[in-house]
Amino acid sequence: MASNYDNSAWFYDSLSKLFYGKALINAQVYLLPFIKSNSSVLIVGGGTGWILEEIAQVHPSGLNITYAEISTNMMALSKKRAVGDNEVIFINNPIEDVSFSEKFDIIITPFLFDNFTESTLQKVFDHLHPLLKTDGLWLNTDFQLTGKWWQNVMLKTMFVFFKIVCGIETSALPDINKQFEQNEYEVIAQKTFYGDFVISKAFKKSGLEV
Ligand SMILES: C[S@@+](CC[C@H](N)C(=O)[O-])C[C@H]1O[C@@H](n2cnc3c(N)ncnc32)[C@H](O)[C@@H]1O
Repeated sequence: MASNYDNSAWFYDSLSKLFYGKALINAQVYLLPFIKSNSSVLIVGGGTGWILEEIAQVHPSGLNITYAEISTNMMALSKKRAVGDNEVIFINNPIEDVSFSEKFDIIITPFLFDNFTESTLQKVFDHLHPLLKTDGLWLNTDFQLTGKWWQNVMLKTMFVFFKIVCGIETSALPDINKQFEQNEYEVIAQKTFYGDFVISKAFKKSGLEV
């Protein structure tokens, strides 16, 4: 089931910048001020790990970060990042196979869900949802389709490319919003990037158990 970004680790960030400039970075950095001091943070699918350095710019110390990434090559690059005095635990496994004894204040899923079919999205979401504390924030960035023809072309091209190179399982964007809606999350902030093709949302987990 799981894709493997190992083959793309060495060129992933350059390819992203070639097509999107800094848009994919800006979209994720936009959400970082929502992380409060001394929080526990779970990052899933952080890729080459540049986000750890951006987080250290906002919080040079005090964070307890758990960084789960399925790709060994992505993980190797991530481990070289300057994380400041934050504590980082690196877990090189599919997140759905990892159990945790503690809940987190923040979960970050940057361009993770677009890799998944509806059923994998459901499975991974159901695994992550109980790991977030009540009133905790889930910071999600991903692609969305807003009806512009070129968005479809770019998305389809990416799916074909990453299916060949990394074996991703899906050819269509799953319904990410539905997962948050079904679980009564409240959108507390959102912003779009790259002609609305990318959306970053900060979701707050309600006290209601669904
Ligand atoms: C599209 S890339 C995005 C990388 C990074 N967030 C960025 O924006 O540059 C998705 C990442 O999620 C990782 N990934 C995919 N499925 C995963 C899973 N089940 N558990 C943990 N990581 C996963 C991949 O290895 C890959 O590095």
